[in-house]
Amino acid sequence: MSYPRVSTLKTANDFRAYLDSLNVDLPFDENVESGKQSALGQSFQYSSQTIGNRFCILPMEGWDGTRDGKPTDLTRRRWQNFGLSGAKLIWGGEAVAVRQDGRANPNQLMCTEENLGELVALRELLEQTHLEYFGTTDDLLVGLQLTHSGRFARPNEKSRLEPRIAYRHPVLDQKFAISSDEAILSDDDLSKLIDDFVIASVRAQKAGYKFVDIKHCHGYLGHEILSGYDRPGRFGGSLENRTRFLREIVSGIRAEAPGLEIGTRVSIFDFSPFEPGEDRIGVPSTNGDYKFAFGGDETGTGIDLTEPQQFMQILRELEVKLVCISCGSPYYNPHMQRPAIFPPSDGYLPPEDPLVGVARQINVTRQIKEANPDMVLVGSGYSYLQEWLPNVGQHAVKNGHVDFVGLGRMVLSYPELPADVIAGEVMKRKKICRTFSDCTTAPRNGIVSGCYPLDPFYKSMPERQELLEIKKEIS
Ligand SMILES: Cc1cc2nc3c(=O)[nH]c(=O)nc-3n(C[C@H](O)[C@H](O)[C@H](O)COP(=O)(O)O)c2cc1C
Ligand code: SF4
Repeated sequence: MSYPRVSTLKTANDFRAYLDSLNVDLPFDENVESGKQSALGQSFQYSSQTIGNRFCILPMEGWDGTRDGKPTDLTRRRWQNFGLSGAKLIWGGEAVAVRQDGRANPNQLMCTEENLGELVALRELLEQTHLEYFGTTDDLLVGLQLTHSGRFARPNEKSRLEPRIAYRHPVLDQKFAISSDEAILSDDDLSKLIDDFVIASVRAQKAGYKFVDIKHCHGYLGHEILSGYDRPGRFGGSLENRTRFLREIVSGIRAEAPGLEIGTRVSIFDFSPFEPGEDRIGVPSTNGDYKFAFGGDETGTGIDLTEPQQFMQILRELEVKLVCISCGSPYYNPHMQRPAIFPPSDGYLPPEDPLVGVARQINVTRQIKEANPDMVLVGSGYSYLQEWLPNVGQHAVKNGHVDFVGLGRMVLSYPELPADVIAGEVMKRKKICRTFSDCTTAPRNGIVSGCYPLDPFYKSMPERQELLEIKKEIS
């Protein structure tokens, strides 16, 4: 199945007609405004902090730290790009592990005492770059994303999973070769891990980050705990128990790092794992009966926001107002988390027009925002909109469907997009992310991540050739 490229939907009428033909509800503004009074250019007041505009850089790691979890030049270049993007909210930079066994790869950054100086320098580099380009950092808010990779931990070797899981999973255990209970984290293990999140948060505050994101998305441990319906003990079963991990981390941070703001990035709904079916097109791995999706309706492909809305109420009670909405997992249902026309090497051909996936994330975010107007929400999954990203983003912000438009892949290929939109510049077509997925395929094959097709820096790296060979072998 092939879908028309977004770049061929040249006029608002073309775009609207195509969305209508898909039966997709994705409202957009025909004209994009510029300047500080525009919907995307206007500031946002969060507590005593002004955030200068409505663009947010989503966290994106590059698999390019040192073995002991310090940034390298490649990491620094990415953070510099975040700084020069013009976005005024930096949601966590990238996933940073709170300890060794929680690293998603042996090159993931780590928030250890030894790395504190480097984490300070990384933030300062981003801020200094931002200052050079935009003259002030007073209205810039920078946080750090803290993570434990749980089921998807590869702390020692890129090719070896060393999973630490919340519960045995019928599909994912098989897919990732987990055959015993050994990988399950006990309640005592989780209590120790809570302490490690608090210790890392204290370090993040010392390193000058204004908030920490206690990561609850993408199939990593925090997210998996939310779907531990059958897990016995203090961290499983009821929603109260499944949020104990988050609640205890929050109360530890309040005690040990007063003044540090707290946010969470959450996969607010999930589907069953997908796998390549006939002609490599993705199909659900389960057939219509799936109970492990937080925010799912137990069919494996449907949404039920009852629990996610209760989760938002719990966050409100915890005074955690910063929430970045995402969904699913790049490991088991990438088409919903990162809608793309070309799948990553471990994926499958898109089972739906990627615009359907974009609209799903945007519409769920809207429902969450409408029920929780006092919460500060960042949306995700906009990159596939390409030329239409500013139009859709502007409409969503202007109508109060979301507070910030989060940018992931688009910023790897086109870092200065937010600055261009706010300045009223014509978008640079050659830099627009076309969702080739090389930034996901590369790390799946042990290569550092980056935009190999469009960023001249990565284009000229020897790794590009290696990646092309791998892609040739797969196709
Ligand atoms: C190379 C790459 C690395 C990513 N790393 C992270 C990460 O460290 N933490 C996280 O929460 N999401 C991560 N993501 C997901 C993005 O933040 C974002 O949710 C996703 O790309 C969808 O947004 P987009 O359509 O703007 O790309 C990553 C995505 C990519 C492509
Ligand atoms: S490699 Fe570049 S063009 Fe491809 S998805 Fe990533 S950012 Fe977009």
